[in-house]
Amino acid sequence: MIKSLVTGGAGFIGSHLVDRLINLGHEVICIDNEFANNELFYWNDKAKNFKADITIYDEIKYLFKSVDYVFHLAAESRIVPAIKNPLKAFEINIMGTSNVLNCSRENNIKRLIYSSTSSGYGLNNIPNIETQSEDCLNPYSVSKIAAEKICKMYSDLYSLPTIILRYFNVYGERAPTKGQYAPVIGIFLRQKNEGQKLTIFGDGEQMRDFVYVGDVVEANIIAATKELDRKFFGQIFNVGSGENISIKKIAKMIKDDFEYLPERQAESKATLADIRKIQQALGWHPKMEIKNWISKYAN
Ligand SMILES: NC(=O)c1ccc[n+]([C@@H]2O[C@H](COP(=O)([O-])OP(=O)(O)OC[C@H]3O[C@@H](n4cnc5c(N)ncnc54)[C@H](O)[C@@H]3O)[C@@H](O)[C@H]2O)c1
Repeated sequence: MIKSLVTGGAGFIGSHLVDRLINLGHEVICIDNEFANNELFYWNDKAKNFKADITIYDEIKYLFKSVDYVFHLAAESRIVPAIKNPLKAFEINIMGTSNVLNCSRENNIKRLIYSSTSSGYGLNNIPNIETQSEDCLNPYSVSKIAAEKICKMYSDLYSLPTIILRYFNVYGERAPTKGQYAPVIGIFLRQKNEGQKLTIFGDGEQMRDFVYVGDVVEANIIAATKELDRKFFGQIFNVGSGENISIKKIAKMIKDDFEYLPERQAESKATLADIRKIQQALGWHPKMEIKNWISKYAN
């Protein structure tokens, strides 16, 4: 039986990945310490679940024994809390990732898929392509991009097969909705359900590339299981829809009644994924269209 380990497996994206791996017949080890400020955690009781902290090496190292694939999603995953507490973001995103990489190296795992972020593109011109230089505007992006470099180093120096997936804005079922730091579509849906006005930061003209959580899960599965030339290990692949849309347009699709709040600091004006590399090398293509998902869930 194939054995997969998912860190952050009780969170938004990780829990969907755990469910999918279980459906594929994998034995799944799920690690999460419920650090996130999410209103709910999703533990699949068919997985082997461990409430453990990736920043504590001794707490996780024994879980990697005879694991085939590691999917590393555990993180301080939101920009605003990371700005408030940069050291915690560095501890989880840099040291935690280093621990996961080293446990994987010690156990000769077959492949490690690291969940990174498009926020490393910062103020670069769109479309964002993997060859652009980084522009890290906040502690979240700097810590996630630092961890990308550690993944690449583990591939180059220790021959650990890693693949780095840079997600754009992920949406879908189970997206956190609590507080103002949750992903925007989740917040809008909660505000609509509670009969409130939707709140837009800045002028709402920020353009974002939104990608569906099910498509992100599929990218992880392909990245782990597809036969790949060694030259791809340590490389970065964008995971986006290849299209972008303004926050105001998204709001209008959900509820045409909103108010504006002051612009947020240290965030980019526009993101748009160039997805040619992942399409060509991994054969991955996004399937869900955001307007279809919103019309199903918002009404
Ligand atoms: N959601 C997005 O739009 C998006 C975009 C780009 C990248 N990402 C990346 O994808 C990954 C998953 O994001 P998500 O949206 O599912 O976030 P999430 O916060 O819902 O999931 C992350 C999980 O990691 C857990 N965690 C945090 N610190 C931990 C620790 N020290 N030990 C063990 N577990 C810990 C949290 O409790 C949480 O359940 C993250 O690495 C994030 O940076 C997400």
